[in-house]
Amino acid sequence: MNRAAVLTGLGSTVPDRVVTNEMLAARMDTSDQWITSRTGIRERRVVEPGTATSDLATEAGRRALKSAGVDSVDALVLATTTPDHPCPATGPTVADRLGLGTVPAYDVAAVCSGFLYALATAAGLIALGTADRVLVIGAEAFTTIIDPDDRTTAPIFGDGAGAVVLEAGDESQRGALLGFDLGSDGALADLIIVPAGGSRRKTSADAGDHFMKMQGKTVFTNAVRRMASSSRSALARTGWGPGDVDWLVGHQANVRILRAVADELGLPEERAFVNLAKYGNTAAASIPLALDDAASAGLITAGDRVLLTAFGGGASWGAVTLEWPDLPRN
Ligand code: UT7
Repeated sequence: MNRAAVLTGLGSTVPDRVVTNEMLAARMDTSDQWITSRTGIRERRVVEPGTATSDLATEAGRRALKSAGVDSVDALVLATTTPDHPCPATGPTVADRLGLGTVPAYDVAAVCSGFLYALATAAGLIALGTADRVLVIGAEAFTTIIDPDDRTTAPIFGDGAGAVVLEAGDESQRGALLGFDLGSDGALADLIIVPAGGSRRKTSADAGDHFMKMQGKTVFTNAVRRMASSSRSALARTGWGPGDVDWLVGHQANVRILRAVADELGLPEERAFVNLAKYGNTAAASIPLALDDAASAGLITAGDRVLLTAFGGGASWGAVTLEWPDLPRN
């Protein structure tokens, strides 16, 4: 039987700077009323100039290690859309700053689904016996790729980081990652895209091409469809029905998406955890940030059956199930 990956530690961090809807409305053609009613977002955290993804990732990682009561791991996997540099990966920098020595450390790029993809690769390292303990981080200085004057994206995205420690164990243990489902559809790559800065177009005279563009409406409908179907597959692999789920912790993009996914699964809306009012969409950071918020608030408690799901750029999506472990409160 495969060795299971068991969640034993959790931590998160956000930058101090708060940007409210009112602050955005003061400098662009939008309103608190529009942003709140269309997305559920009231404010977001934004990094100061000079703060990079590794700064947030290191702090979240430190907190997760503390929560697990450990100071070493065998590998580090960092999910991010906004690495400190196009080259090299940011994972090794974070491992070095955490004093983790020369462990394997690398980045996973699957935008808003990144954290679930990172969990899956970490669980793979554990299943193979390559690692007994892995630090998995989702971290984004996402606002660094957002045009501050674009009303279709600036109100939506924010910065932050969350992390978990996974340790080799048994499927019967609370915290074991149970049923995974992952998928992608590259035909939808243009839905969420930074047109320049990659090998297709390294630089652009138009500075706007270095910012992310999103076809919001199409992303919305695909997000609901894929998060619901991926959740169903992960539940089926676990042997759970939707009625067994205590908490749906979905990628925090839009409260209307989270409610629609709950609806599609036949879950009461209250089962969908929502914290995006405070942080907006933090891409790869959103699920671990939501987990830490929900656990710190005493909402998700030991033994709860939890379903994680996400949809994002690529397009990519995923879902995974776990029974919530006994963790020390942060
Ligand atoms: O994280 C990866 C996954 N990302 C997502 O899941 C995002 C999914 N998409 C969404 O959450 C929504 O599509 C948005 C929140 C981005 C947009 O909401 P929408 O209800 O789909 O609005 P829309 O883009 O269709 O725009 C509706 C109207 C338009 O005006 P007209 O054409 O009806 O006159 C927009 O120009 O709202 C206008 N609009 C705004 N108005 C005020 C667009 N952005 C704004 C704004 N303030 N910030």
